[in-house]
Amino acid sequence: MNPLNHVAIIMDGNGRWGIKYKNSRNSGHKEGLKTVEKIIKETIKNEIKYLTLYAFSTENWKRPKNEINYLFKLLENFLINKIDDLHKQNIRLKVIGFKNFSKKLNNLLKYSEKKTFHNKKLQVNLALNYGSKSELIHAFKNLFKNKKTLNEKNLNKYLQTKNIPDPDLLIRTGDTKRLSNFLLWQIAYTEIFFEKKLWPSFNENDYNKIIKKFRQIKRNFGNI
Ligand code: FPP
Repeated sequence: MNPLNHVAIIMDGNGRWGIKYKNSRNSGHKEGLKTVEKIIKETIKNEIKYLTLYAFSTENWKRPKNEINYLFKLLENFLINKIDDLHKQNIRLKVIGFKNFSKKLNNLLKYSEKKTFHNKKLQVNLALNYGSKSELIHAFKNLFKNKKTLNEKNLNKYLQTKNIPDPDLLIRTGDTKRLSNFLLWQIAYTEIFFEKKLWPSFNENDYNKIIKKFRQIKRNFGNI
């Protein structure tokens, strides 16, 4: 059985769910947040140590202002209401991506990261204003600026995922088969599952079915 240390998720389908059931994309994001909470709990039950959630990409800035504002308000309220609870559950919250949001949200994110820094049960990496291409360019620039030799080990040190093991399993919900600029370097040997359900409809049972299938895969890492 494969060990499972890190799950990464592209939480796709909120907008379509919202339009279908509530005639509003933003309602889909609100419902999607409930799935986030369920999946965090289930990740702990499965004794998985890292969960990386793609919450806002560098390309998502193209969306209408009202949707962007709604998403950030949702995140702000989530942090205000839930950070103590996450802390009590021994969960560490870390942001990957560049924190260039409102002063209030930047401060809340920094506060949440600092408060939960020493927690050990589960590390939740929130990918926010994250894009793999800009992460890599930034990493290369800094590596060259510091006159380091270009090799895998050194490059890893300059990525936003520094000290985070590569994902073993990547799940994308929402019936779409693409990677959308997510962890392109880090998923070189990750097992990828595309799930038909939209993110707000995805549940613990679906998650556990994927985990079970993942555990049974023969992972060779190029060997035989
Ligand atoms: C993609 O679905 C989802 C997002 C861009 C946002 C993800 C946000 C959440 C799950 C809720 C908020 C999370 C936190 C941690 C506060 P989409 O809108 O692209 O769906 P579509 O493909 O149906 O349009």
